[in-house]
Amino acid sequence: MLGTLIPSFPERLFGRQIPSGSQWRKKLRFWGSVRIVAVLVLGICSCADKEGYPHDLSYPQRADLIVEESPKLNPNNPSPPGGLEKSIANLALVGGKILDPIKLPEATQAEITKLLDEQFGTPAQPRVGNGKAELGDLGKKLKLDSQTLAQGSVAYRRNCLHCHGLSGDGKGSSGLWVHPPPRDFRQGRFKFISTNPAKNLNRPRREDILRTLRMGLHGTSMPAFGILPLEELEALASYVIHLGIRGEVEFSIEKTLLKPQSQVINLFENFLPDEEVSKAQETLTYFVPKFVKEIVGQYHTAESQILIPPEYPFKDSELSDSIKRGFRLFSSQAPDALGCVSCHIDYGRQSPWQYDEWGSLNRPSNLTAGIYKGGRRPLDLFWRIKRGIPPSKMPAATLTGEDEVKKTWDLVNFIEALPYPATLPEEVRNAVYGPTRRIAKPN
Ligand code: HEC
Ligand code: HEC
Repeated sequence: MLGTLIPSFPERLFGRQIPSGSQWRKKLRFWGSVRIVAVLVLGICSCADKEGYPHDLSYPQRADLIVEESPKLNPNNPSPPGGLEKSIANLALVGGKILDPIKLPEATQAEITKLLDEQFGTPAQPRVGNGKAELGDLGKKLKLDSQTLAQGSVAYRRNCLHCHGLSGDGKGSSGLWVHPPPRDFRQGRFKFISTNPAKNLNRPRREDILRTLRMGLHGTSMPAFGILPLEELEALASYVIHLGIRGEVEFSIEKTLLKPQSQVINLFENFLPDEEVSKAQETLTYFVPKFVKEIVGQYHTAESQILIPPEYPFKDSELSDSIKRGFRLFSSQAPDALGCVSCHIDYGRQSPWQYDEWGSLNRPSNLTAGIYKGGRRPLDLFWRIKRGIPPSKMPAATLTGEDEVKKTWDLVNFIEALPYPATLPEEVRNAVYGPTRRIAKPN
C-alpha cells in the first residue's frame, strides 16, 4: 500500500544518469518513504488539531434576549422555520417578559465576561472553577476535570455544535431550522431527569444526560449517539454540564442585574449566608466563584438522588384493571382524576401549542403515537409522571396516599397500552378510539 504512495524516483540527478540498483536509488527510495511517512504523520496530527477549537477563540458574550417569563396564553401557530429569534423578540406583545442583556452598562458586561472566562476558560481549554481550591474535589467527582472537558469540547464541536451552538445557546447553523429547537443549555435546565423530587432538585444526573446522548430524543431532531465510545459520551456529558453551568451563571446574573435594584439582592440571598450578602452586592468577583460552587454542588447531590421506583405491584392477570384505573386517572372522569387530558386533549391528538420556559413552543405529546422523547421503558414513563417535565410546564402528578405506587403504575400501564387499541379493555378503547370520541373545535 505504502509503495504505491512513494513517488517514482528520478532517473537523473544533477544531470547524471543514476545507474539502476545503485546506492543512490536505495537512499532516494529510503528518504522518499521517510518523507511520505512524515507527511502522513504530520497530516494526521494537524487534522486532529483542527478538530478542536482555535486557541484564541473565547466564548461569546451573551447578546440575545433573555426570556424572563413566557406568555401564559396559548399561541395558534409555531414560529416559522428560522423565526424563533423574531418570535422571542415579540413575546412581550403577547404577555411574556423579556430582558435585553445589551442594556447592561458596558463595564458590567465586560466584568461578567472576564469572570466567566476565569471560571470556564475557552472552548479549546474549557474548565469549571478557576483552578484554585474553591471547588475542592467536587469537580473531579463530577468528571469536570480539564482533561475530560477538553476531550468533550472536541467531540462537541464535531457532533453537536451545528445544532447547540458554541456557547450552548441552541442557535447553531442547523439549530435555527429544526422544530422543536435544540436545547439552549444556558439556563441549566433539562427536561428528562430522574432525580428525587423530594429534594426539590431540578438537576439531571449524569446518567440522564447520557441516556439522552445514547438514545437521542425520539420525535425530535436530537440524534442518538449510542455508536460513540462510552468514554466520548462521558466527555460529552461533562461538556454539556460545563456549558450549562457557564450559561446559567451568566443568565442568572444578567437577569438579576437587569431588574430593578431592589430585586438584585434576591439572587445573592439565595446563595449566600446573610453575613456575606452585603459583600456580594459590592462585588461580583466575590460572588461568582461561590455561585459556581453552589451549582456544581447541586449537580453533585443529584448524582446520589435517583428516584427509584417501588416494586411493580401487579400480577399479569391484573393488567386490564390497572389500565382501566390509569385511564380514569388520566381523564377527568373520576373523583381522584388527575386531569392529564386538560393538556393532552384527546389523549394528545389535539393538544394546543404552549410556550415552554425558553419561550419556544411545544405541544403536550400525542400519547396515542407511542413516541416518547425521554424514553419508552416503563421506568422512563414512571419518571416522567413522578417528575413532570418542568421546563415544558408539565407538572409532576400529585399522587398521594397509600395507593400512590399503584396509581403511578396504573398510569404507566395505561400510557404503554394507549397506542395499541387491540390491547385496551373495551370501555377504554371505545372512549379513546370509538365513534363517540370528541373532536375539539379549533379556536
Ligand atoms: C440536529 C440537531 C441536533 C444535534 C446535532 C444535537 N442535538 Fe441535542 N438536541 C436537539 C434538540 C432539537 C433537542 C431538544 C428537543 C426537545 O426539547 O424536544 C436537543 C436536546 C438535547 C439535550 C437536552 C435533554 C434534556 O433532558 O433536556 C441534551 C443534553 C443534548 N441535546 C445534547 C446533545 C449533544 C451532547 C449533542 C452532540 C453529541 C447533540 N445534542 C446534538 C438537537 C440536536
Ligand atoms: C399543564 C399541561 C400538562 C399536564 C396537566 C400534563 N402534561 Fe404531560 N406533557 C405536557 C407537555 C407540554 C408535554 C411535552 C413536553 C415536551 O415535549 O417538551 C408532555 C409530555 C408528556 C409525556 C411524554 C414524555 C416524553 O418522554 O415524551 C407523557 C408520558 C405525559 N406527558 C404524561 C402525562 C400524564 C400521565 C399526565 C397526568 C398525570 C400529564 N402528562 C399531564 C403537558 C402536560
